[in-house]
Amino acid sequence: MNILILGSGGREHALARKIRQSTLCSTLFIAPGNAGTSTAGENVAIAADDFDRIGSFCIEKKIDLVVVGPETPLVLGIRDYFETHPQLQSILLVGPGKTGAQLEGSKDFSKQFMVRHGVPTAKAKTFTADESNQALSYLDGCQAPIVLKADGLAAGKGVIISSSISEAKQAITEMLVHKKFGEASTKVLIEEFLDGIELSVFVLTDGEHYVVLPEAKDYKRIGDGDTGPNTGGMGAVSPVVFADQAFMKKVETQVIIPTIAGLKKDGIAYKGFIFIGLMNIKGEPYVIEYNARMGDPETEAVMTRIDSDLVALLKACAKGELKDKKIQINPHYAVTVIMASGGYPDHFEKGHVISGLDSAQAHVFHAGTSRKGSQVITNGGRVLAITGNAPTLEGAAQQAYETVNKISWKDAYWRKDISRDLAQIEKNKGI
Ligand code: AMP
Ligand code: GLY
Repeated sequence: MNILILGSGGREHALARKIRQSTLCSTLFIAPGNAGTSTAGENVAIAADDFDRIGSFCIEKKIDLVVVGPETPLVLGIRDYFETHPQLQSILLVGPGKTGAQLEGSKDFSKQFMVRHGVPTAKAKTFTADESNQALSYLDGCQAPIVLKADGLAAGKGVIISSSISEAKQAITEMLVHKKFGEASTKVLIEEFLDGIELSVFVLTDGEHYVVLPEAKDYKRIGDGDTGPNTGGMGAVSPVVFADQAFMKKVETQVIIPTIAGLKKDGIAYKGFIFIGLMNIKGEPYVIEYNARMGDPETEAVMTRIDSDLVALLKACAKGELKDKKIQINPHYAVTVIMASGGYPDHFEKGHVISGLDSAQAHVFHAGTSRKGSQVITNGGRVLAITGNAPTLEGAAQQAYETVNKISWKDAYWRKDISRDLAQIEKNKGI
């Protein structure tokens, strides 16, 4: 098959590496890709949301399968574009249509979806700009901490957790009245705070059947010990020690099955990944959010644990043939450490030369990199995702950090504690 991956991050490099390994893959393109993806396939200088150019490229190169990495093309309706274009209709595509992508694109839509289909989630109420006074009086009846969520996509910044009601009132006024997140905050959800441990569960579905990928834990804050501002994710670990068999069974029966049945009931033909952000509260799963794609950096951990041919699964997903498909997962631990540009998630510099890439033992997935002659240079906030794999959590972390320590550029930054909390839980459990 001729395959095109859309996107340019560490997630896309991890997907590219896994797809390249498949005997079903003849040529692989990544648009626009990064310095790492160019070692797995051919980079194409087309933005992931430039549908006209993507469409022409697919016709020219006889692409059989398109795998959409990030959310923006999905929310903008890339599937709908392909389905309505006579020359693109027959191309297989992994990713939901515009309506399905609303599970990620609108927090109000996804909350209503969960309530309608009995998926456990935090209680919430939505307010529009016209209802800002009602929102303020509603807050009077709430308890802190309280969560405020901009309805639309806000580059991962649209969630505010307020530690007092007065702080929440100020924040909701900024969001609704002063349009802090632009269009994304024309509606805001006021949501109950869930106190538990977070994890990410990934499902590949054809709208009827599904396979469950390895789960992962993400490390969202910039600083060690989960301190400082939120980021796109500073590390990931898979498997997750507190997601034992009993918990994952509950996730399947209480969350995954009702979600897929709900999509079907609502007439939403969904072919793609569903990323379920979950809170484990005393062994019970609650959905924090859905995303219509894989997670980043979770993918860089998860892909190294899949032994099955990923292309066979992606093809079955896009063709509606996932029934009876099984996924082979290896029991090894994967620990991913993000190496970021100093200053991220605020201001950071680009263009620094990266050295030590050749001495790596662990997997080195590129996120924000580009080539300058024979050199690889930094080109983003999150620069590399380093994944160690080993039979033990400690071994996987050690392998990842040994590689991290061999790679350098000016002002490189990384968290030193990825997996430490999980190692502690394992120790307490006597695993
Ligand atoms: P989201 O953009 O929905 O992923 O939210 C970003 C982060 O905010 C989540 O990953 C959680 O860490 C946190 N969060 C969101 N909703 C809640 C909630 N109801 N209770 C506690 N934390 C939450
Ligand atoms: N790692 C979180 C995300 O991809 O949204």
